Amino acid sequence: MRITIPYELKPLSCNPGAIAGMSEKIIVSHYENNYGGAVKRLNAIEAQLAALDWATAPVFTINGLKREQMVAMNSMLLHEAFFDSLGASQASAGLAAQINADFGSFDKWAAQFAAMGKALGGGSGWVLLAWSPRDGKLVNTWTADHTGNLSGATPLLALDMYEHSYHMDFGAKAGAYVDAFMNNLNLELASAQLLAAKGV
Ligand SMILES: [Fe+2]
Repeated sequence: MRITIPYELKPLSCNPGAIAGMSEKIIVSHYENNYGGAVKRLNAIEAQLAALDWATAPVFTINGLKREQMVAMNSMLLHEAFFDSLGASQASAGLAAQINADFGSFDKWAAQFAAMGKALGGGSGWVLLAWSPRDGKLVNTWTADHTGNLSGATPLLALDMYEHSYHMDFGAKAGAYVDAFMNNLNLELASAQLLAAKGV
């Protein structure tokens, strides 16, 4: 279904009261304030873009609005991928086999993904498990400022490493947040998304 403008919040896909090791308060706050804030900001930017006289607008106005549109739009999409990533469930045989093929084993994949998250602790950014159709493989990717998804790739899991994701529950202990995230992976949904990304 085509998303209409103004952009609307996608309903929370996980049960915020049932994420082991994370409070309902932080999940709901993250959803309402940070995800909701990105959607609200995107709609404000879209309104300015709609009113822009492209022939006469200064280049810094065009550059600024399009940059901020990119940041807000990708923040919206990555946050949706983040909430979709929560809710412990099992990987399909297909996803398990793809992870084994591309990382050696599930544990090796998880160790790499978690280490990338912990490496961003105290900073900000995202860690994504993405399907790259170019090479027909899964890749763990790093991204900053909500803008650096691998070209053409589809995120299957998204770990938000901005401090707002964990500070309320974990303080500065970003590593404990990453461990909690890894214990709550919605691998069933990631499996379905892999099939969709492969066009199966
Ligand atoms: Fe966030």
